[in-house]
Amino acid sequence: MNIKLNNTNFNLKDKNVIITGGSGFLGNQLVNTFLNQKSNVYNIDLFPSKKKNKSKFIKTDITDENSLKKVLKYFLKKKIKLDILINNASNNYNPKNKKLSKLTLEDFSNDLWENDLTVGLKGSYLCTKIFGTHMSKNKKGVILNISSDLGVIAPDQRIYRSMNFTKPVSYSVVKHGLIGLTKYTASYWAKKNIRCNAIAPGGIFNNQNRLFVKELNKLIPLGRMAKSNEYNALVMFLCSDMSSYITGTTIIADGGRSII
Ligand SMILES: NC(=O)c1ccc[n+]([C@@H]2O[C@H](COP(=O)([O-])OP(=O)(O)OC[C@H]3O[C@@H](n4cnc5c(N)ncnc54)[C@H](O)[C@@H]3O)[C@@H](O)[C@H]2O)c1
Repeated sequence: MNIKLNNTNFNLKDKNVIITGGSGFLGNQLVNTFLNQKSNVYNIDLFPSKKKNKSKFIKTDITDENSLKKVLKYFLKKKIKLDILINNASNNYNPKNKKLSKLTLEDFSNDLWENDLTVGLKGSYLCTKIFGTHMSKNKKGVILNISSDLGVIAPDQRIYRSMNFTKPVSYSVVKHGLIGLTKYTASYWAKKNIRCNAIAPGGIFNNQNRLFVKELNKLIPLGRMAKSNEYNALVMFLCSDMSSYITGTTIIADGGRSII
């Protein structure tokens, strides 16, 4: 299925959009989707994207409040009013990384726990605090938090066994926590005309281990993982005025996985 969004009236032209982790797998997809809508995209990441695009890369660690304040200063100096913040960056684990074999709860390292929560939760909270405050002063803005199907259900560890991998507890906590941050922010800044929502996407197919994909597909009513472009329309919808009466909610897009 080829989903083209170019002619859809999201009215996101010239909107100033921050995407954290915009150099990553999903982030890159979202950066390009906003660029196609002719938005001005600022990618806040530790590393530049390997794929060239017209976004502005701002090398920043989202866990460092002072660095984020410098980014805000840059926007204020350039008189750029932010319209949209997407909290997308988080630590993700690649089962191929042999160093990460000890992810069982019994052996889980406190350093990993702290690092994961610092990036996934503290980073999103700091971006919300700093860029959200700026948007609240302008009395207009949208914040979108990227949670996961594992923000609403527990991981089924059986599907990772073929890779000798355990989905870490920190991932569940971060993704559930983002849904809490979403509700808090939506309620807190509602009167300032800030909407805040989350999406809970299911796993995106990215040539993962065949056995893993087979086992995962059995848990999904639609019988397959998502394609990398299948969240674009949902994100555009939640970031545009088309969703003007939606705030504080989490839209689950998981092929039905969480309903069974
Ligand atoms: N890929 C999936 O199947 C999937 C499914 C559900 C939810 N998600 C969520 O989507 C989001 C993106 O996932 P992805 O697969 O693109 O991950 P990814 O690992 O490819 O990208 C994450 C990006 O975040 C950046 N980052 C990490 N720490 C940072 C920091 N301290 N400051 C700034 N940037 C930092 C990384 O450099 C990387 O570019 C994550 O929140 C993930 O939980 C992904």
